[in-house]
Amino acid sequence: GLSASAALARRPSITGAELRSAVPLPPPFQVPLPIPSVLAPVSTSGGVDRYAITQREASAEILPGVRTPLWTYEGTFPGPTIESRRGRPVTVTHRNELPVPTVVHLHGGRTPAASDGYPTDLVLPEGWHEPATHVQPASGHSMQGMQSMQSMQGMHDPRAVVSTLTRDYTFPLDQRPTLLWYHDHRMDFTAPAIWRGLAGLQIVRDDAEDALGLPAGQRELPLMIADRAFAADGSLAYPALDPTLREQPGVSDPYLAGVLGDVILVNGAPWPVHEVDAARYRLRILNASNARHYELEAVTDDGRRLDLVQIGADQGLLAAPVTHHVLPMAPAERYDVIVDFSGVAIGSRVRVVNRLGSGRTRDVMAFRVARNATDGSRIPRVLSDDLPAWRRSDAVRVRKFSFRTGRMRGGHGWLIGGLPFDPGRSDVTVGLGDVEVWRLVADVHHPVHLHLVGFRVLSRSGRPPLPHDAGLKDTVSLRPGETVEIITRFDGYRGRYLFHCHNAEHEDMGMMANLEII
Ligand code: C2O
Ligand code: CU
Repeated sequence: GLSASAALARRPSITGAELRSAVPLPPPFQVPLPIPSVLAPVSTSGGVDRYAITQREASAEILPGVRTPLWTYEGTFPGPTIESRRGRPVTVTHRNELPVPTVVHLHGGRTPAASDGYPTDLVLPEGWHEPATHVQPASGHSMQGMQSMQSMQGMHDPRAVVSTLTRDYTFPLDQRPTLLWYHDHRMDFTAPAIWRGLAGLQIVRDDAEDALGLPAGQRELPLMIADRAFAADGSLAYPALDPTLREQPGVSDPYLAGVLGDVILVNGAPWPVHEVDAARYRLRILNASNARHYELEAVTDDGRRLDLVQIGADQGLLAAPVTHHVLPMAPAERYDVIVDFSGVAIGSRVRVVNRLGSGRTRDVMAFRVARNATDGSRIPRVLSDDLPAWRRSDAVRVRKFSFRTGRMRGGHGWLIGGLPFDPGRSDVTVGLGDVEVWRLVADVHHPVHLHLVGFRVLSRSGRPPLPHDAGLKDTVSLRPGETVEIITRFDGYRGRYLFHCHNAEHEDMGMMANLEII
C-alpha cells in the first residue's frame, strides 16, 4: 500500500479550507465575554436533579448588528450550563423542536449506554415522517456533502434506531469532578449540528475539590472556544451550503479535512474581552471547534508570556500542577488552568492568542486587568491522589488501530482500521474491568476520543508523553505520523459505546467505531 505521506501528497485539500465570512467582522476585544447561564433544575427530589432542555431554533446577535439563526439548547449558544455534584444523578429530558432528528451525548460522562447518545438513538422532531432508515436533512438546505456520505455509508440498521419525540437521559455522574460538555452526536450529521449551535457545558464538582482553595466564584471562568464563519445573510456558513468552495480545484470534498471558520468565538462571542482583578483565575477551557487546533499563549501588552498552570485535564485534576507557556488543544480537549494576573499592570491587557492561527484567527480573546484585589486562592502542590496508575503489565491485551484517510464506497472518507463506521458491525469487544493498551496510529492530526472511560497517555512514537498529556484524558491528539499509546481500564457499565476521531467532520465521514463492553 501507499505510505501515509505519499497518500497525503496526492490530496491537496487535506489541510483544510478556512471559510471566509461574508459580513463585516468586529475589531477584537470589544464584545464582553458572556458566561453561559446555569440551568435551574425542574426538581431536585429523591436525590436526583431533573432538568428539561428544549432543542429549538433561535437567533442571536453573535456579531454586532448581525442576526444569526442557530440550532440551540434552550435558545442560546452555548447552551445552558448544568452544575452537578459527583455521584448525584442527573436526568435531562430533551425535547426536540428542531427540524431534524438529534442525539445528545455528554462528552466525558461515565454514562450507561442507554443514555450515552449512540448515533442512531434519535430524538425525533414532532411530525418527522421519514423513516429513520432514510434520514434526510430537513433544514431546507442542500447538504450535499452529508447526503453523499449518507449514501456511501449505506442504510442504517433499523433495529438499532430508537426514536422518540422526547428522551430522558440519565447521568449517574459517579466520576471524578471535571468539565464535561454535551453536544449533538447524530450519525453522519454531528459536525453541522454542533456548528449550528448544539453544544453546552456541564460541570461536576465534589467536596474534595471545593476544599482545595482554587480560584472560585467570579474568578472561575468556563471558556468554550469555537471557530465559525458567517454567510452574507448572517447565518453560519458551512461548506456544503457554499457552491463556490466545491468548485475550487483540489477541494472536491470540503468536508474532508474538517471545517475551519475565520471568526474565533469564546462562549459564543467573537474575540471577547473580560475585565479581571489582578488576581488568580481558574480558566476551564474547552476546544469545542469542529476541526481547529490551538496552541494557546497568554501574552501581556509588553510581550511577556504568563504561566499557564495546568491543574486538570479532560477527566479532572492532575496529581500536581504542570506549568506551560503554550497549551496545545485539539478539538474536544479540556484544560483546567490557573492564570495569575497579579503581576500585570492595572489597565493593561492580556491577550490569549493561538500560535497556530494567522491574521484574525491568531487572536482568541483578551483579559483587561481592571483593579488591584486581595486574593485568598492558592494552587496546592498536591491536587489529587486518586489518579489511576495503570501499568503496562496490568494490560491483558494490546490493540492497534490506524486512523487514516481511505476510499469508502463512492469517495474518500476517514477510516479506523481500514473501515468506515457501521452501526451494525461489532468492532471491538472488551471485558468489563479489563485493562488494555491501545496503540493509535495517525496519518494526519486526529483527536481520538473514547466514550465512557478515561485513559492515560503512555507514549508518543516510543517517547515519553508530552507535558500536556498529564492526568486522565478522554481525548488525545494524535499528531501527523504519530503512534500514541494509551492505557485504560474498561469499567463502569456494560454495553455498546464508541470511539472516534473528534474532528467532527472526520467523525461524520466514517472515523468512528463500536466499542462493546461485555
Ligand atoms: Cu464529544 Cu463521541 O463525542
Ligand atoms: Cu480525524
